[in-house]
Amino acid sequence: MQNLKNHLKTISKFESAVSLLSWDFETYMPPKAAQKRAEIIGEIAGHAFKLFTSDKTGLLIEKAESEASSDIDKAVIRVAKKEYEKAKKIPPELFKEFQITTSKAQHFWEIAKNENNFAIFQPHLEKIVELTGKIVDCLGYKENKYDTLLDQYEPGLKTSQLKKIISYVKPFLVNFLDKIENGTKPDDKILTGDFSIEKQKKFSEKILDFLNYDKNAGRLDVSAHPFTITIGAFDVRITTRYSRSDLKNSIFSTIHECGHALYEQGIPEDFRELPIGEGASMAIHESQSRFWENIVGRSLNFWKFVYPTFCEIFSEFENVPVEKFWKAINKVERSFIRTEADEVTYNLHIMLRFEIEEALINNKISVKDLPVIWNEKMKEYIGVIPEKESDGVLQDVHWSHGSFGYFPSYMLGNLYAAQFYHTMTKDISDFDERILQGDFKSILNWLREKIHSKGKIYEPLELLKNVTGEDLNPEYYANYITKKFTMIYNL
Ligand code: CO
Repeated sequence: MQNLKNHLKTISKFESAVSLLSWDFETYMPPKAAQKRAEIIGEIAGHAFKLFTSDKTGLLIEKAESEASSDIDKAVIRVAKKEYEKAKKIPPELFKEFQITTSKAQHFWEIAKNENNFAIFQPHLEKIVELTGKIVDCLGYKENKYDTLLDQYEPGLKTSQLKKIISYVKPFLVNFLDKIENGTKPDDKILTGDFSIEKQKKFSEKILDFLNYDKNAGRLDVSAHPFTITIGAFDVRITTRYSRSDLKNSIFSTIHECGHALYEQGIPEDFRELPIGEGASMAIHESQSRFWENIVGRSLNFWKFVYPTFCEIFSEFENVPVEKFWKAINKVERSFIRTEADEVTYNLHIMLRFEIEEALINNKISVKDLPVIWNEKMKEYIGVIPEKESDGVLQDVHWSHGSFGYFPSYMLGNLYAAQFYHTMTKDISDFDERILQGDFKSILNWLREKIHSKGKIYEPLELLKNVTGEDLNPEYYANYITKKFTMIYNL
């Protein structure tokens, strides 16, 4: 067991180097260095992959299996074995072809998006879908090809379960969106203007302090797309972005990434450099970021607490009542762009993508029809049709990466967050009061004890059941949305 752990820790150190180089790539690296840097990252990542897929790993896992007694050791073996067997099933030539295809596709996706022309991206996406199908065939599947893709991000979750959840959430959201039309629409003009980047930075730093992000074990920087990255133990970094005309963007990007980082900072030290030393799944990770961003960060009590600090920095808000500000940041809109979507419409954007992906991988639709299918679904779910392909089918980078199966994580994150929140308020009955007082520590401690300290020991649905005593139940999300937006829209 110890030999296996040492071997995995060695591999993890190479991955740490890759993380640091990648972080620098996205933040401070001079632009001319990009090409060479990509090569260096590729070389080291390739080396780590080779080490992991070597026969040595297989032998060490086999030997350790008979020795493992503790739950932690068993989990290390379970996660390592699953990854190892998966990696071994994909022929290196296919893996390489997939990598070359996707890196080319990203380039053409960018051009297609800029030129607002799906046809430029189409052949590349066709190739990606074809190769993804081949990879799924190598990995195997029982009921639905999409299960295999979903399993990469949300281990244990089946497509049939996801469809069942959607069959509840979709009609709920479509109806609720209609209902909101009759409510009082918040006025969000106050959120547009010219806001100093310096002031936004200052406020972002304040928020991180309030939320107990450990700055001695991390830092906040700027990148085109905000992200959180764990370089290694005691080094979990986040980025945000600042826009002079859009105040919301930096505030909620910072809180969102802080949520991811709090999870990573809460992983136990003795899990570090092991396969269990990370979040349980993509969606559990997203549940943490969205819990802090939406359930805490877009609540009235949160703003009642931070508003004095906020107004000290942005004096132009001194005469804006906090309730007005809170309503403005929660305005619901039938809009085209997923990343800018509010809490009510967001999951509809995800369902549309999931349905397209699932149909694509099972050869029920073809890539060339995507622009039409996209618009039909937009009309049906959200009620608007984008005029440009760049605001529609071309808006997300994910498919050019070949990341099929990833999108549902965002929706599941919202559902998990609401279910965790429900359980939390049973344990912390004065939750609202604590937020109002700025006592975020007791809330964080709850998450630490129930979720963060477990790392990747449990599969996501198992963890959810351990924490909440229930299987995934989308009613908690529906109740949360109904209660909150009934108040905001005076329904
Ligand atoms: Co996130």
